[in-house]
Amino acid sequence: MTDTTDTGTPAQPASSHRLWGGRFGAQTAAALDAVNRSIGVDFRLWPHDIRLSKAWAAALGRAGVLTDAEVSAIVQGLDVVSAQIAAGAQPDASDEDIHTMVDRLLHAAAGAPAAKLHTGRSRNDQVATGTRLWAMEACRTLDQAIRDLQQVLLEQAELLQDAIMPAYTHLQRAQPVLAAHWVMAHFWPLQRDRERLAQAAQSASILPLGSGAIAGSAFPVDREFIREQLGFRVVSPNSIDAVADRDFIAELLFVLALLGVHASRIAEDFILLGTSEFGFVKFGDTFTTGSSMMPQKRNPDALEIARGSGARFLGDLVALLGTLKGLPSGYNKDLQDDKRALFGAVDAMLLVLPGVAGTVAELSWQRERMRAAVSSVMMATDLADYLVDRKVPFRDAHKAVGAIVREAEVSGIEVHTLPLSVYAAAHPVFGDDVKEALSPEASLARREVEGGTGTGAVARQIAKARSALAR
Ligand code: ARG
Repeated sequence: MTDTTDTGTPAQPASSHRLWGGRFGAQTAAALDAVNRSIGVDFRLWPHDIRLSKAWAAALGRAGVLTDAEVSAIVQGLDVVSAQIAAGAQPDASDEDIHTMVDRLLHAAAGAPAAKLHTGRSRNDQVATGTRLWAMEACRTLDQAIRDLQQVLLEQAELLQDAIMPAYTHLQRAQPVLAAHWVMAHFWPLQRDRERLAQAAQSASILPLGSGAIAGSAFPVDREFIREQLGFRVVSPNSIDAVADRDFIAELLFVLALLGVHASRIAEDFILLGTSEFGFVKFGDTFTTGSSMMPQKRNPDALEIARGSGARFLGDLVALLGTLKGLPSGYNKDLQDDKRALFGAVDAMLLVLPGVAGTVAELSWQRERMRAAVSSVMMATDLADYLVDRKVPFRDAHKAVGAIVREAEVSGIEVHTLPLSVYAAAHPVFGDDVKEALSPEASLARREVEGGTGTGAVARQIAKARSALAR
């Protein structure tokens, strides 16, 4: 039975601490409460909600809305709430979201002054502010996790500056490279991810508080003061935009999606090189798992999970963009779902990155197998370059070397074991020293160009990476 008589008291259970309800004559349906309740997701915003509430109380005090005594009662009360939640205080059944829970606990801790804290603010500017603070912190945590992975890659590369392996195009053996160079190819995308992350952090660092529900706070709060208190870069210029702007989440989710793609590619490369067929790396004990049936198995699960997680980061980005695209101006409840995507993606990434870093850190490189996989036909380009050095046009050189490669293939032997007569027949400029061009070392030595795989170039690259990490 619902009571529809207007008794002048709000129609909510006595135990409820709802932030609204005065205009309703009946209790909300349980099904509405269930679908509307977001505290399962947004509970983790509590430290930020408390921090921004303190700044808001102080701003209301400076605006003459609260007395000094009220401000300090609220601030002290918020400290009590903070300690209670840190000690494990749990949401009540009536706590719709974390803002409600903090408000409920504050009323218990601070008494009457607590009822004045929500003056001139709305959960719309409140949640936007808290989520931005959370995102700013997440950017710092993510940056460190990416750095840790970069550090591991760099340390591996430093140990591989004299190890030669094949590089692949189309997953077919292409040209010899230093293994250090190959590993460093995974360092630089992460460096770009960190640059993009820093940009996303800048986008998060815009203060919405003071925007109220949509039109701006009716009390003369000093938003510059709040900005400084909370460490934001700038104050939002438009209250309608400020309560609905989730660009910072979209940007962060894009950074995570691309970072997820990079982590997935690192994972795939090492999974492949760790197969018995390649056998270039062996996995260690602490980041691999066994099989419940096959006693011999050693599986690189962390890498596979990293590869699989690449998909969910894309999904989180698309889910948020889908939520945003049709929204009318101002706050809409659809936006409550922003945090599910944001928190889920950040959580997953903070599991993926250490998993990949740990696996890579304990790889053991099988230098002989890597080196043995470099066949002399991979120096075919160097053979053509030999002719180019002797003034033969590259197109002609390419054709002549093609004939040599075909000859080797037809006779079923390696290019470097063909008799010199075959070379001379392919092009008269080939001399007795031609086979020197077929060594992988000679191939590397020619590639000291900036960004190339020559030993010196790779050493310079590693130095650059080291200073990028130190910054
Ligand atoms: N839980 C809400 C969210 O995450 C808080 C804002 C609610 N605002 C409102 N007007 N109901 O978006």
